[in-house]
Amino acid sequence: MLAILPHFEIKLGDFRGSIVNSNLQFPNRVTNKINIAIDGYSSCGKSTLAKAIAKNLNYIYIDSGAMYRAVTYYALEHGYIQNKGEIDENMLVESLHLILIQFKYNSDSQEIETFLNGTCIDKEIRSMQVSAHVSAISAIKEVREKLVRIQQRMAENGGVVMDGRDIGTVVLPNAELKVFMTADVEVRAQRRFLQLKNNAVDISIDDVRDNIAQRDLLDTTRAADPLRRASDAVILDNSNLTEEEQFSFLMVQAKKAIDMKTLV
Ligand code: DC
Repeated sequence: MLAILPHFEIKLGDFRGSIVNSNLQFPNRVTNKINIAIDGYSSCGKSTLAKAIAKNLNYIYIDSGAMYRAVTYYALEHGYIQNKGEIDENMLVESLHLILIQFKYNSDSQEIETFLNGTCIDKEIRSMQVSAHVSAISAIKEVREKLVRIQQRMAENGGVVMDGRDIGTVVLPNAELKVFMTADVEVRAQRRFLQLKNNAVDISIDDVRDNIAQRDLLDTTRAADPLRRASDAVILDNSNLTEEEQFSFLMVQAKKAIDMKTLV
């Protein structure tokens, strides 16, 4: 059973009030729980692995990418991103305090869903349109500062598995276990293409591959918190690994890190 209760609320801007009923959100938090930071390239399967590990350890899974996607969706909906991709950064930064992001656990699907100002946007934030602009939005310093602070607050009692691009390097530099995931771009494109097809999205494999390559470039070359491997991160190249193999690999690492923490 995933340790996320139905109502998990984050409000950008008003940080003090950002996690509603935090004692309810994090029941029985004990300090010997570790934090696990999973970073890596787009479409590497980070979230699938992070969710499975969180479920097995009864930890909280936090999808930091969904938070950047929610802000991107908000910017698109409010016309802060022009057709050619130009972003009205001032308007977006001034509006950050109006953005309410919530993660809620859906007991039917047994999945965590992302809500923006009360509306479920789980499908919308996975669209190609959001994917096409999210790297540019996530390169905005003020957006990162807000989200990083909130992510740090969410993990401060341990027991979190968080995936993203800067978790091991910036958000949780003291995480007891850091993993850096990578996979061949062609393998990632095929996996993502199948996922989109299953969701009835009409797109060519070439467009999917281009988007992934473009995001790799933007994520690794941006000035603010670029994607890079933390020096103490374990590398996991899953080009030729099944989900089960990745899970077993990471569980061994997690158990070791938990034992270490228990001994200290
Ligand atoms: O993990 P994802 O593909 O859903 O992430 C979407 C984008 O958000 C990705 O292109 C980079 C950005 N991101 C980030 O900059 N920092 C994070 N911690 C998570 C995601």
